[in-house]
Amino acid sequence: MPGINDDFIEEVRSRNDIVDVVSGYIKLTRRGSNYFGLCPFHGEKTASFSVSPGKQMFYCFGCGKGGNVFNFVMEYENFTFMESVAHLAERVGMEMPEVRYDEKAKKEADLKSRILEVNKDAANYFYMQLKGQNGDIARRYFEKRQLTEETIKKFGLGYSLQYSDDLYKYLKNKGYSDDILRESGLCLFDEKRGGHDKFWNRVMFPILDVSGHVIGFGGRVMGDATPKYMNSPETKVFDKSRNLYGLNIARQSRRGNIILCEGYMDVIAMHQAGFTNAAASLGTALTSGHARLLSRYVKEVLLCYDSDNAGVKAAFRAVPILKEAGISAKVINMKPYKDPDEFIKNLGKEEFEKRISEAENSFLFEISTIANGYDLNDPKGKTDFLGEAAKKLTGFTDEIERNNYIDTVAHRYNTDAGALRRKVNEIGLERGIVAENAPIRMQRQKSIKPKEGFDKSQNLLLTWLVEDRNLYDKVKKYIRPEDFEGELYIRVATLLYEQMEEGNPNPAKIVTGFTEDENQAKVAEMFNGAVFDDMSVSEREKALKETIIKMKQKAIEKMSREAGALDVGGLTRIIAEKKALQELEKLVI
Ligand code: GTP
Ligand code: MN
Repeated sequence: MPGINDDFIEEVRSRNDIVDVVSGYIKLTRRGSNYFGLCPFHGEKTASFSVSPGKQMFYCFGCGKGGNVFNFVMEYENFTFMESVAHLAERVGMEMPEVRYDEKAKKEADLKSRILEVNKDAANYFYMQLKGQNGDIARRYFEKRQLTEETIKKFGLGYSLQYSDDLYKYLKNKGYSDDILRESGLCLFDEKRGGHDKFWNRVMFPILDVSGHVIGFGGRVMGDATPKYMNSPETKVFDKSRNLYGLNIARQSRRGNIILCEGYMDVIAMHQAGFTNAAASLGTALTSGHARLLSRYVKEVLLCYDSDNAGVKAAFRAVPILKEAGISAKVINMKPYKDPDEFIKNLGKEEFEKRISEAENSFLFEISTIANGYDLNDPKGKTDFLGEAAKKLTGFTDEIERNNYIDTVAHRYNTDAGALRRKVNEIGLERGIVAENAPIRMQRQKSIKPKEGFDKSQNLLLTWLVEDRNLYDKVKKYIRPEDFEGELYIRVATLLYEQMEEGNPNPAKIVTGFTEDENQAKVAEMFNGAVFDDMSVSEREKALKETIIKMKQKAIEKMSREAGALDVGGLTRIIAEKKALQELEKLVI
C-alpha cells in the first residue's frame, strides 16, 4: 500500500475485533466457537453469515462473501481499502500516519520495473532458444499449428529448454538476485534443488500489457501431458484479472469491436487470419476488471468462446459483466468446431467473417440456447419453452424494446406475437406484485452449498490447521505448501506455514495481502472449509486422515505428470513420496 506501512495496517486490523465491528451493523448470535447472523450482502431468512473470533474473519456460506474486518467494512460501507483502514483506525483512536508516498512508492516502482526487466530478458531468451540449435522440436510444433515466421515474431513466441535450471542460470549470469527472480515468478527455490525454472520444455507465450511490457508467460506442453498450459503466478506486475492476452495489438485495430476468445492459440490464429482485434482472458473467467479495461477501447465485444457447454456458460456469465461496463455483447457461433483456431483452419477466414456478421446479440443467443433444451415439435415442449422465453422477456423495462424482442422471438419460433405479449405482461404483472411485498434487497435465495471436489479437501485442511494448532506439526511432515494444487492455494499455504513456524497463525493478515477482491473472497473461503465444532472427535480424525491422504495422492500425481521421462531426480522423489503415502495410510492421527 503506498504510503502507509503494513505494520500500521496490521495493527489497525488487530485492534478492531471483527465480532465487535460486525455487531455494530448486524445482530450476531453465538453458536459454538463462531457467531452467526443474517447476511447483509444477500437477502436471506436463515443465518448463514458467520464470524469467527479465532480467525478474525467473516464468511457467508450462502453467498460466498468473506474476508477480514477491512473487507467487511469495505463491502458494507462501499469504502475503498484505504478508507476502511482510516475508518477503523479512527474507531480505535489511532492516528493515520502522514502519507509519505515518495520512499515506499518509489521502492515499489523500482521493484516493478526490475521484474519487467527480468521478464523482458526471459522473453528474449525463450525466443533465442526457439531459433537456436535446440529449438527444432518447438519450431516443428509451431509449424504443425500452422504459425508463420511473421506470427511467431509478432507475438514473440519462444521455447524453454528441457533443462530445469537453464533460464535461472542465464538470468543469474545477467546479475539478477534470487529475490528478484523469485518475485518474477519465473524461478522457484527449494532446499534440495536450489534455484530452478518454473517453465521447461514448453513453447512459451509472453503476455504483454497494453503498454507492451512483458508481464508474464504462458507455457504449453508440446504433447498431451498435463497440465497443458502453465501460467506465471500473479506477481507485482501480473494481475490476470486486469489483463487480456493480445489486447496490446487488438486495441489498435480499427474494427470497432473486440473479439474475445478463450485461449492463446485462438488469439494468435485469429490475428494471423487478419482478425487483429482478437484478445483472450488468461484461462480465467471474465472479470469486471477485464470489462473496464475493454471499455477504454470499444463499446462492443464479440464473444468467441468454445462451443462446448462450458464455453456457452462462460459466455452467459460474461454478458452482464460487460453490460455493467457499458459494453454490448454478441456471440459468435463456431459450430461444428470447438474454437476459432480450429474453425479458421477448417473453414477459412471468409467463413469466419460470415460468422462475425451473423453474430447473435446476447439476448437472442440466450433464448436460442434455452430453445435447445426443449422439443419444439411437441406442443407441450413448445409451450414450456415459450413460457421460459416470456419470463426472460419481462427483463426489458423499456416497452418499445420489449415489444421489439417479443416480435422477433415470436417470429423466429413461429408463434403469435399478440399471445406472447399477453403472456409476458401476465408474468410481469405477477412479478410486480411479488416485488411490492418482498423485503428490500431480497434476491434469489441461494441455498448453502458445500464446495465440491478437491478444493473442498484443501479448504478443510487449511481451516483445520488454523483451528487446531497441534495439527500443524503432524501435517507438515506429509503435506508441504507446494503440495497444494493451484497457485493461489500454494501462496496461501506458504504464508500460513510461515506463520505456523513462527507459532502465530493469522489468516486475517493473509487476507490483507491479497489486493484483488475476488482473491480475498477465495482466500476467506479457504479458511472456512467447515466448522470443527460440528464434528465429533472420531469423525474429525477420520476426515482429517482422508483429506491428507487425498492431498498426498494428488500431489504425487501432479509430480508424476510434471516429471519428464529423463528426470531421474524427479522419479526418485516420486518413489519416496509414494512410500510416505503408504506410511500415512497406516498412521493413526
Ligand atoms: P490449444 O490446445 O493449444 O489449442 O489451446 P486452447 O487455447 O484451445 O486451449 P483451451 O481451449 O483448452 O484453453 C483455453 C485457455 O485456458 C488456454 O489458452 C489457457 O490460457 C487456459 N488453459 C488451458 N489449459 C490449461 C491448464 O492446464 N492450466 C492452466 N493454468 N490454464 C489452462
Ligand atoms: Mn485450441
